[in-house]
Amino acid sequence: MEFFKQAGPLQAFLTDRRSKGSVVGLVPTMGALHPGHMSLVSASRKNGDFTVCSLFVNPTQFNDPEDLKKYPRNLDADKELLQRSGCDVLFAPEVGEMYEDNHQLRFEFGELGNILEGKLRPGHFSGVGLVVSKLFNIIRPSHAYFGYKDYQQFRIISLLNEEMKFGIQLHGLPTVREGDGLAMSSRNERLNPEERKTAPVLFRCLQQAREQLLRGVAWDKVHNEIASRLEKTEGLRLEYFALVNKFTLDNTFNTLTDGILLIAAYVGPVRLIDNLTVTE
Ligand code: PAF
Repeated sequence: MEFFKQAGPLQAFLTDRRSKGSVVGLVPTMGALHPGHMSLVSASRKNGDFTVCSLFVNPTQFNDPEDLKKYPRNLDADKELLQRSGCDVLFAPEVGEMYEDNHQLRFEFGELGNILEGKLRPGHFSGVGLVVSKLFNIIRPSHAYFGYKDYQQFRIISLLNEEMKFGIQLHGLPTVREGDGLAMSSRNERLNPEERKTAPVLFRCLQQAREQLLRGVAWDKVHNEIASRLEKTEGLRLEYFALVNKFTLDNTFNTLTDGILLIAAYVGPVRLIDNLTVTE
């Protein structure tokens, strides 16, 4: 696996590879890699891509400085995992390589960026938009792979790809889960044993809500039951539990087939998100 910290040499290398017929696939990550990330690398390889994984803990997408400070970082372990996965290139730039000292640019995603995660984490999606556009510009992939765990992020990046005319084929991949249903996330590393035991309740609530909706129970009733179940859960603080249209993330849908359930909660000090479509 080739390793680059600077954009210039990486671009020269990829230009050469493309001239020899390689089709580049990008797996953007913030490191602390787990099987969810590895499923993206493996999808890219299966697609026949020359696979580039980027690893960059992007400061502009953290609205909470404490969260940025505590975000897990394991470069050596990540390198080893990627090497073994057959990834072709790792790009792990420093902050100065990605941002000018006095950078000014901001992204706005309209209503899609102002609801749910966007409402609770001001500036988050602007930061995601910035870094993903920079990565798309530097790497110029034909394909890019993202996990559906960050479902709103996937919709934001789809909008970015469309409006900026990047012309990249985006692939959204299913959430990879632990045996007890907890969605894999780099942040899970920060849960203490007690919090780790509590965390799967988020997925169980999503499943309970799905079952009830499919049985015809009204959303208000489902929402209230789950919210009060979570209120009684020690060490957990619910931020939102929503049923929205999976394409627009707004409330305008006629059929449950279009619905997706989204949840965000603090388990101890760790903020976790998860989601489940109402029908497969
Ligand atoms: O999903 C992530 O890990 C990050 O938000 C991303 C897409 C790599 C941008 O920093």
